[in-house]
Amino acid sequence: MVANAGQLIDFQDALANFSNDVPNFDTLALHAGAVADPTTGALLTPIYQTTTYRQEAVGKDKGFTYSRSANPTVSALERRLAALEGAEFCTCYGTGLAATTALCLALLRAGDHVVASQAVYGGTVRLLDQVLAPFGVTSEFVDTGDLNELRRAVSARPTRFVFIESPANPTLKLTDIKQAARIAHEAGALLVVDNTLLTPALQRPFELNADVVLHSTTKFIEGHNATVGGALITRDQGLHDKFSFTRNAIGTIQSPFPAWLTLQGVKTVGLRMAQHSANALQIARYLEKHPRVTRILYPGLESFPQVELARKQQTAGGALIAFEVEGGVAAGIQLMNSLRLCALAENLGSAETLVTHPASMTHADVPAAQRQAAGITDGLVRLSVGLEDPLDVIRDLAQALDERKVA
Ligand SMILES: Cc1ncc(COP(=O)(O)O)c(C=O)c1O
Repeated sequence: MVANAGQLIDFQDALANFSNDVPNFDTLALHAGAVADPTTGALLTPIYQTTTYRQEAVGKDKGFTYSRSANPTVSALERRLAALEGAEFCTCYGTGLAATTALCLALLRAGDHVVASQAVYGGTVRLLDQVLAPFGVTSEFVDTGDLNELRRAVSARPTRFVFIESPANPTLKLTDIKQAARIAHEAGALLVVDNTLLTPALQRPFELNADVVLHSTTKFIEGHNATVGGALITRDQGLHDKFSFTRNAIGTIQSPFPAWLTLQGVKTVGLRMAQHSANALQIARYLEKHPRVTRILYPGLESFPQVELARKQQTAGGALIAFEVEGGVAAGIQLMNSLRLCALAENLGSAETLVTHPASMTHADVPAAQRQAAGITDGLVRLSVGLEDPLDVIRDLAQALDERKVA
């Protein structure tokens, strides 16, 4: 589906078939939206650290007036991310949740209804349930991996949009994006896909008829644990206008420096996602065979319950592995405390391998019953596999699993 990193390319053939208007993914990741600086020729888009812009005359500007509305560095990132998702429009935000907030404020009014995947990022649940509900927005969280459940939910009451994460964080439950788009559209709803966990390097929601793609660029898009940021991408001018208006109205644009760092990070997103996936597959195979691992979920494993769907809509398994160890919550916590190379940290998607306990960290604000219903058990461990040599990560997991045995 995606012209992928890691593939050996015969350059003669590649050049013969090269079409100027649609460069391949890795080329876009480096070049899309970049324009050499008109005054100096600087190859990298500069950090336009400016609040305002001198206007030639009243009403005559160069497209920028005030950096809450738009900033040239942020615009360069927006052009790049839109191109990578195969879309025309993008707005970038100070965080991923600021993007989700802008999405909701742009599209929802009191009395509107949202249907969302049961196992979305905990902050998305908190926003809908605790911040927007008092303003009269209702939400139902359903297992969108079960299309009958989704169909039931959107027919039960008029729905403004369906919000899915596939794979979902942290259970890695998949939703059939093409079918979800069909069901949403038949019910008059939009389909929003949070594509944070795979990025367009591994999954292309617009080719599966999504209306909006959301990213926490904090994760794999920037990829180096150096920024927080978010993006809303669409092919629809009307939706884009609403997002731009809302972002300016609520003041949530990204700052130029994190946008610039993200412009550098995203250059290697194709290479990184291929390597993250190759490493994660090796580590998942190791964990699957380990006698103390009682449950493992990784979309690249044959044993993954939705492996056929993973093959259909993803080009690789991605970086995330969810697993449980024998001995339940206490054993899981002990394992996480015993890791030395893998960092216990509240993030995913970076070059370094991170381990998280969703029930007490990323999903702590999701009510316990809702967590259980979504499959986020108290013993679930989430591993975001980084770019270290996978054997070193396996060694670290081995010593931590063994330490548990001795204890
Ligand atoms: C899938 C997903 N979407 C959105 C977010 C929110 O992004 P941010 O932390 O950049 O606000 C996160 C954060 O963990 C996430 O994992």
